[in-house]
Amino acid sequence: MVKNINAIRGMNDGLPKDTALWQRLESLLTKVLGGYGYSEIRLPIVEHTHLFNRAIGEVTDVVEKEMYTFDDRNGDSLTLRPEGTAGCVRAGIEHGLFYKQTQRLWYIGPMFRYERPQKGRYRQFHQLGVEVFGLHGPDIDAELILLTARWWKTLCIDEHVKLEINTIGSLEARANYLTVLVRFLEQHVNVLDEKCRRRMYRNPLRVLDSKNPDVQALLKYAPRLSGYLDEASRAHFTALCEFLEQAGIPYKINERLARGLDYYNYTVFEWVTTSLGAQGTICAGGRYDSLVEQLGGRSVPAVGFAMGLERLVLVVQALNPALHTLPVIDVYLIALGAGAQSVALQLAERLRDIFPQLKLVTNAGGGSFKKQITRADKWGARVALLLGENEVATEQVVVKDLRSGAQETLAQSKTAGRLAQIFS
Ligand code: HAM
Repeated sequence: MVKNINAIRGMNDGLPKDTALWQRLESLLTKVLGGYGYSEIRLPIVEHTHLFNRAIGEVTDVVEKEMYTFDDRNGDSLTLRPEGTAGCVRAGIEHGLFYKQTQRLWYIGPMFRYERPQKGRYRQFHQLGVEVFGLHGPDIDAELILLTARWWKTLCIDEHVKLEINTIGSLEARANYLTVLVRFLEQHVNVLDEKCRRRMYRNPLRVLDSKNPDVQALLKYAPRLSGYLDEASRAHFTALCEFLEQAGIPYKINERLARGLDYYNYTVFEWVTTSLGAQGTICAGGRYDSLVEQLGGRSVPAVGFAMGLERLVLVVQALNPALHTLPVIDVYLIALGAGAQSVALQLAERLRDIFPQLKLVTNAGGGSFKKQITRADKWGARVALLLGENEVATEQVVVKDLRSGAQETLAQSKTAGRLAQIFS
């Protein structure tokens, strides 16, 4: 027997039963983005590996162990993008998008990380990312948060997602803090596991993310970043908090929120839900004012976030099943007997010419009247059109309202007019 070939672990097929919800979500989300004046940017899925090493940081989980990296036939090291910000900045520099102008951009698509798959965590997942360039005030941070809050309201899940925010200060303030943190860690090096010891000098902030309970217990006594923040970042953060309060957006300040990618400064934020278990962050981001310069551009302030679409789908399925209905069609066209199928195909094409929005399925593959009407019900059709041998001979059609059961026989030329009345 030939062995089946299955999909790669953690990389999922989008099955027809789910794609209707995905399409509906994507359309709602991007409509809101359009309403705020954001434009779509389409980016490659593969980039040079050193783009991610430089942008995300060499000593991060993503770069150290999660990237899908390979050499192409030329021997160049390429990587399947683990996130969208680095590619977006690369494209902006390459095409001069940041020169004397601001940009409000969004992108959508698959990202790849070699993580241990579980509910809400996959190796191929999809992000809807939003990035703004050229604005450094807290007003734009507030706009991004208001935009996401509008999404939750549109999807009726606003009661179930909570906003956590923090400021991680300027790069200089963080450098000062890191000196103090390293001194503290050196004094307690015996408590640190091997991974933390390795990170202590290369990227001490990452020690704060340690899942080791002994390290976490020690960190309760560690100096806090909030004690070392510079005045400018404090003022920026206070202004952001005021914008949020005045706009009626509840938030919690989470001083431990540092984010797992190296490019952030000032504001960081996450929208978290309790309805997903361990993988509760559905949307996360922050400012990254040095990244454009770090990747070779001029100094351009930037802020953005990305939403995990699989996580959003799980939340919507759990909390708002009304959005997750099967695709429903308007009309099912039944064809029975000699010559009927060809007439049905032509009638269907004429109706599609007149009503481009009409959802019409023509029966295919034959079957008895009973079988075809069962299929119409399965599709959730509102109306069935019947073409039998008689109707073909007399150029008529039977119009059956599947909700009331009422039916009438009309000239085929009158079908469009009757449907217009039914669906008006
Ligand atoms: P991130 O926190 O790594 O940030 O990912 C953003 C979101 O993507 C997460 O909150 C989560 O919803 C989703 N996500 C991440 N990994 C997985 C996974 N393995 N499976 C399913 N969903 C996942 C970034 O990627 C930044 N580029 C966000 C950003 C944009 N910051 C500024 N601009």
